[in-house]
Amino acid sequence: MKNRSHWSGPLSFFLVAVGSAVGLGNIWKFPYIAGENGGGAFVLVYLLCIALVGLPIFVAELYIGREGQSNIVHTFNVLEKKKSRWRFVGHLGILSAFVILSFYSVVGGWIIDYFLKALNFSFEGRSGSDISGMLNLLFSSPGKQIIYHMVFMFITFMIVVGGISKGIERWSKILMPAFLILLLGLFIYSVTTPGFKDSLVFLFYPDFKMLTPSGVLEAVGHSFFTLSLGMGAIMTYGSYLKKSEDLIKTAFYIGLADTIIALMAGIVIFSIVFTYGLEPSSGPKLMFETLPTLFSKDAAGNVLAMSFFGLVLFAALTSSVSLLQVVVSYFEENSNLSKTAITLLSAFSIFCLGILSALSTNLLSDFYVVEGLTFFDFFDKLSSHYLLPLGGLLMAVFFGWKLDTEEIKKIFLDHPKTKLYFFVLIWSNRILAPLAILIMTINSIFS
Ligand code: TRP
Repeated sequence: MKNRSHWSGPLSFFLVAVGSAVGLGNIWKFPYIAGENGGGAFVLVYLLCIALVGLPIFVAELYIGREGQSNIVHTFNVLEKKKSRWRFVGHLGILSAFVILSFYSVVGGWIIDYFLKALNFSFEGRSGSDISGMLNLLFSSPGKQIIYHMVFMFITFMIVVGGISKGIERWSKILMPAFLILLLGLFIYSVTTPGFKDSLVFLFYPDFKMLTPSGVLEAVGHSFFTLSLGMGAIMTYGSYLKKSEDLIKTAFYIGLADTIIALMAGIVIFSIVFTYGLEPSSGPKLMFETLPTLFSKDAAGNVLAMSFFGLVLFAALTSSVSLLQVVVSYFEENSNLSKTAITLLSAFSIFCLGILSALSTNLLSDFYVVEGLTFFDFFDKLSSHYLLPLGGLLMAVFFGWKLDTEEIKKIFLDHPKTKLYFFVLIWSNRILAPLAILIMTINSIFS
C-alpha cells in the first residue's frame, strides 16, 4: 500500500468536501426538480431527508473512509480485518461514479458554453425568446455538446492528475467563498424583485397534493446526490483525513452549507420565474432560461453572468473532481499503471459513456432506454433513484450493524459530544435511514 497523503488542515478538508457537495446539484438540479415536483412539499421532504437520512450516513461514510485509510473497496477489508463481502459496496460506488460523471460532465459542458457566451457579451440586450433559443441551439448541436463535454472532462482530468493538495485545495479556498458571495449578492437582489414573495410561497409552503411517490424518491435520491453521498466520494475524502477530526461537526457544517446554497439558488431562480412569468416546471432548462434573463439587462448584467457561470463552472469542477478521484484512487492502489495513465483511461472511458447523454437532446432524443427516458434521463435516474440510495443504505447497515459499536463509541465520545448525538447517529444508521430508503423506493416502484 502506498503512503497516503493527508489534508493540510481541517479548514482545507472542509472546503474541499464542500467543494464536492456544492455543485450543479445545488444550482442546476435542485431548483428544477423542486419546480417539477410542485415546490413546498417536495422541499420539505428533501430537507427531512438531508437531516434524518443524509447526515447520519455522511458521518458513517466519513468514518468508514477514515478508519480504512484506503480506497473504497479495500477499506471494507481493513475494517472487517478479512476479505470482506462488503467490498462490493465499493465496486458499486465505482460504477456510480462512472454513471454520474458521464452525464454531469455534459451539463458541465453546457455551463462552459454559457460561460463563453457571457465572455462574448452574448446576453446583453437579449429578449426572453432569444434566451430560450440559445439553449435550444446548443441542445440541437451534437458537435458542440460533445466538444464542451470533452473540455469539461479534460479539465477534470488535469486537476486530478495535479494531485490532491496542490490541485484542488488551493483554488477551493478562494473560489468557493467567492461563489458564496456572488450568490448572496444575487439573493439580495432577488429580495427586491416582485417575484420574491411568490418564490418563498412556492418553495416553502407545502401543498401535499403535489407530492407523488416518485417525487418523494426524487427527494431522497437528491439528498444523496447533493451531499455526494452513497458512492464513496465522501469515503475517499475521509480516507485522507487524520484521526483527530470531529466527524459529526464536519458533516453537520457541510450539510448546512450545501443546503443553504441550494435554497438560495432556488429562491434566486424562482424569483426570476415569478417575476417574468416563466414556467416553474420546465425541467433541466430552468437555470439556463432564468438567470440569463436577469443578466441580459445591460453590460453590467453580462459581467455578472461571466462571474456567475465562471464560478458555477468551478463549483461543478470541484464536484466532478471528487467523482473522478474515487475511480482513480481505487485503480491507483490496484494496478501497476502510473497515476497519469489511470486518470487518463478513466476520464476517457467516462467521456465516451457521456457521449450518449450529449446526444440525448439531439440525435438520440427519440431513443428511450426505458419508458420515455433518454440516455441522459436514464443515467440521472439510475444513479439518483437507485445506485446512490442503495449504496447509502448498505453503508448505513455496515456502519450500524457490522462494525463494533463499542469501538465507534470510544472514538465519538472522545470528542466533547453528548451521548445523545451518538445514540441518534447509531440508530439512524441502524434503523431509520435504511428503513426510510427502503420504504420510499418500494413506494415509488409499486405506485
Ligand atoms: N454533490 C455534487 C453536486 O451537488 C455532485 C457530486 C459530486 C456527487 N460527487 C458526487 C453526487 C458523488 C453523487 C455522488 O453537484
